[in-house]
Amino acid sequence: MDIQSVGIVGAGQMGNGIAHVFAMAGFDVVLNDISEDALSRALALIDKNLERQVQRGKIAAEAKAAALARIRTTTRLADVGPTDLVIEAATEREMVKQAIFEDLLPHLKPHTILTSNTSSISITRLASRTDRPERFMGFHFMNPVPVMQLVELIRGIATDDATYKALHAVVEKLGKTAASAEDFPAFIVNRILMPMINEAVYTLYEGVGSVKSIDESLKLGANHPMGPLELADFIGLDTCLAIMNVLHDGLADTKYRPCPLLTKYVEAGWLGRKTQRGFYDYRGEVPVPTR
Ligand code: CAA
Repeated sequence: MDIQSVGIVGAGQMGNGIAHVFAMAGFDVVLNDISEDALSRALALIDKNLERQVQRGKIAAEAKAAALARIRTTTRLADVGPTDLVIEAATEREMVKQAIFEDLLPHLKPHTILTSNTSSISITRLASRTDRPERFMGFHFMNPVPVMQLVELIRGIATDDATYKALHAVVEKLGKTAASAEDFPAFIVNRILMPMINEAVYTLYEGVGSVKSIDESLKLGANHPMGPLELADFIGLDTCLAIMNVLHDGLADTKYRPCPLLTKYVEAGWLGRKTQRGFYDYRGEVPVPTR
């Protein structure tokens, strides 16, 4: 299965990073979102992140120009259809993802591999609502995509070997490393990472430590590049809550119950960096803890 073109649905935090690495690896990219605004913001961000790599001597200026030239943007979902591989990177809500697949199916080529960048939702269930469960897989990138080495590959119950091998080869072409995960709630990375983040929020909620002391403890005491609350803001508190709910519902164990303080931040619309406020307030020169 020779994959040359890729369609990406959703130009947010993950979608634009995925477009960046595919374009750099020589694939033709069609990037889709519902608004022109989101697409322009994504292109500007890809440009900025590629420029950062040029400035640090990681890539040549010509490679940046060639990568940008390989990305086409569109607000029409149908334009994504004629690609060899589709990656859905929309918001972490099952209804939204299912609606996208439903609209997309009539436009796909018979051989197109369909994937979701979901960080937690059942691949088998998403696949069962499509016409190609054997050519459907979980294709989970980490944020920031251009920097993080890992891609999780998750097979649904019906995924065939040819599809798995084709995606494995794509990950190699991207210069990244694949980890295979079975299709259970939140797979590997988030099964371990999210309960840690949730526990950090409980530690704050119960007054054991402040935002600053919790983050400093994990950075200086466990050598994490970011503290857990800083990382939660980076990922998005709505995404963290959605993943905890998938773990809680899917594994039916109270140890996965989301911290009420996490729920409260999400209810307030304080979703982290993307809304400029979460466990830190990002509206000034430097981030200031909100508790
Ligand atoms: N695009 C391109 N390059 C980028 C980038 C981007 N978006 N963001 C950072 N970089 C590059 C920088 O240019 C820099 O490159 P050099 O090493 O060549 O100098 C390097 O990354 C480090 O960046 P900075 O010096 O600006 O900042 P930093 O040292 O503080 O590192 C970080 C930033 C890489 C994000 C680091 O803090 C980190 O690794 N944080 C943890 C990230 C993490 O855990 N991600 C996983 C989240 S979980 C997930 O994604 C799964 C899910 O489903 C929720």
